Amino acid sequence: VGTGKFFVGGNWKCNGTQESIAKLVSDLNATTLEDDVDIVVAPPAIYIQQVVKSLAPRIQVSAQNAWVGGGGAFTGEVSAEQLKDIGTKWLITGHSERRHILGEKSDFIGKKSAYALSKNLNVIACVGEKLEERESNHTFDVIFEQLQAFVDELPSWSNVVVAYEPVWAIGTGKVATPQQAQEVHSAIRKWLGEKLSTEVAAQIRIIYGGSVTGANSSELAKQEDIDGFLVGGASLKGPEFATIVNSGT
Ligand code: G3P
Repeated sequence: VGTGKFFVGGNWKCNGTQESIAKLVSDLNATTLEDDVDIVVAPPAIYIQQVVKSLAPRIQVSAQNAWVGGGGAFTGEVSAEQLKDIGTKWLITGHSERRHILGEKSDFIGKKSAYALSKNLNVIACVGEKLEERESNHTFDVIFEQLQAFVDELPSWSNVVVAYEPVWAIGTGKVATPQQAQEVHSAIRKWLGEKLSTEVAAQIRIIYGGSVTGANSSELAKQEDIDGFLVGGASLKGPEFATIVNSGT
C-alpha cells in the first residue's frame, strides 16, 4: 500500500443480467466494507442506471467505455455527458480488451480520457504489456508509450487512478507476483515523477489488475507502490470482492 487512499474497482466487463446484477448488488450492500477505501464498480453500460439506483452510495459507479467526445451522430456510442447524467462517477479507459480486441490506440485513449475528465468523470487509466512484450524485455517501453499518451492529453491528474494490468495476467489465473507488480508500479511512479511532478507521483494511486482474488490480494497489497486493485472475475462475487476491498488495511 502506498500513500494514497486504497482504491478497489470491480470491472464486471460484459457480464450479467438484470437478475444476476440485482443479486450482486444486494450481496455488496450486505457486506462490511472498510471505511478507508475508495470502492468503484463498473457494470455494463446498459445496467448502470439499475446499479446507481440500487447500490449503497458508499460504492461509486463507473462506466467501462465512453465515446471520445460529445454526443451527436455516433451510432452505438454513449457520451461522457450521458454517463454523468445517469449518475456515473468514473470511466475506465485504455483497458487491454479495448486496446487489443477493439483496436483503440493510445492517442485516442488519451483524448477520450481528457474529454471524460472535462465532463467531471474520474478516470481509471489502464496500461499493460502483453506476454511477448514482457518476454522480449519491452515491458517498460510499452507501458511508457501508453502512459505518454495520457501525459500528452490530460490537463490534470488529480481525478485519475492508474491501473497496471499485465495482459498475460488478465482472466488467466496467472497473477503477477508481488515483486513483478511492485517493480512496474514503482517504475510508473518514478516515470510520472519525471514527466509530471513529484507531487503527482507521490499522490497518484497505482492499482494492480490481473487475476486478483481474495486469496492473493493481501500479499499484493503489502507492496509499497500497490495502492489497490482493478478486479475482473472475482468482482462478480460480492463476498470475495469485499475480501479484496478489505485487504489493504
Ligand atoms: O479490469 C480488470 C481485469 O482486466 C482483470 O480481470 O478477471 O483477471 O481479474 P481478471
